[in-house]
Amino acid sequence: MNAAGQGGRIDLRQRAQVAVEQRVQDGLVRRRRSISHCHQGKVSCDGQRLLNFAGNDYLGLAHDPAIVSAMQIASQNCGVGAGASHMVCGHHREHELLERAVADWLGYPRALLFGSGYLANLAVPQALLQAGDVCLQDKLDHASLIDGARLSQASLVRYPHADARAARRQAQAHAGGALLLATDGVFSMDGDVAPLRELANLANEQQGLLYVDEAHAIGVLGPDGRGSVAAAGLTPAQAPLLLVTLGKALGACGAVLVGQDWAIEQVMQTARSYIYTTAPPPAVAVAALAAVKMARNEPWRRAKLEGLVARFRQGARERGLRLLDSHTPIQPLPVGDNALAVHVAQELEARGFLVGAIRPPSVPPGGARLRITLSAAHTDHDVDALLDALEPLAARIAQRRDGDAAAGAVPC
Ligand SMILES: Cc1ncc(COP(=O)(O)O)c(C=O)c1O
Repeated sequence: MNAAGQGGRIDLRQRAQVAVEQRVQDGLVRRRRSISHCHQGKVSCDGQRLLNFAGNDYLGLAHDPAIVSAMQIASQNCGVGAGASHMVCGHHREHELLERAVADWLGYPRALLFGSGYLANLAVPQALLQAGDVCLQDKLDHASLIDGARLSQASLVRYPHADARAARRQAQAHAGGALLLATDGVFSMDGDVAPLRELANLANEQQGLLYVDEAHAIGVLGPDGRGSVAAAGLTPAQAPLLLVTLGKALGACGAVLVGQDWAIEQVMQTARSYIYTTAPPPAVAVAALAAVKMARNEPWRRAKLEGLVARFRQGARERGLRLLDSHTPIQPLPVGDNALAVHVAQELEARGFLVGAIRPPSVPPGGARLRITLSAAHTDHDVDALLDALEPLAARIAQRRDGDAAAGAVPC
């Protein structure tokens, strides 16, 4: 439908209304939930108590009393906000301590704190790449990495998911200019891990730079929870630039970029999403620092999480639930159809479980799914209860998914 009004000018309101109607028709309307209380894997959501299997608090740190109290004390000393951007007078000692701690944890020379992972991913391609360069990315990389490449002057080239051979072909086909090879370590909607060793070899052969987004891996995978790069046995020389987000397993907010001195300096001096924004609250940096220490020093959280993931997968197998092949706390259950994904999530909610119904554009068309996430805050009983609630829905999901596959729906 044409939204042009009198005089040929597009009517924004009319265009938005058309888009709203289309979203309703396609089952793509998103709804925010009002969370009023969170504790140990449970939330009050729009007034109802639910077990939360939708978040990213993988280690159960977001409500840890020691971290909460560290933040309370810090806010008494340093107030609520940073007061300015880092480059003016908003860079506090607390930010500095957090940067140092993350760099030490991961074994990189230098770190830079951002207000969020999204901002950091906008920063890296913009700061490092120029016209004529290439940003090579996995097709399922997070939206922030894709947006970062689009904002840079470089060409964005995407290879099929987790296909390092295709990545090599793409790199060879786009010779000339600098190469940034960017990938999620753990893919946020699929839960699988990137082929990091192959990608590191490729970056090395092509004299490119490998940039790994550890958002869903930090704290969870690898020795001392150092993430997917450490789990793959790669050194800082092989994976020179990493993003650690603080809002998922670390339970806080913000993100830390770690890397070689030259790369961090270039980002700090030139990235618009670093320079032109207020620094994160110092008290949040204190909370994140406490969380980093706990993630390092409390391996029982990872061990518990691993046990819960294994229990969930085993229980799903026994109940005929076909999960995606993931061994991380992200355990997607493909549904295919948008409306069915929403419907199943609503049925689960009625039984006391909060689970994300993920639909395009967060996943490819036809790839709607329940994104079930586990946390060290859950108990065996919580996981079993979710499995029991999912069991009666299994046949309906399988029937619909198989029907869609027969009708040629795009697999995710
Ligand atoms: C892989 C990945 N990278 C980056 C981000 C952005 O991080 P933040 O939430 O800190 O902006 C996310 C958030 O969902 C993510 O899943």
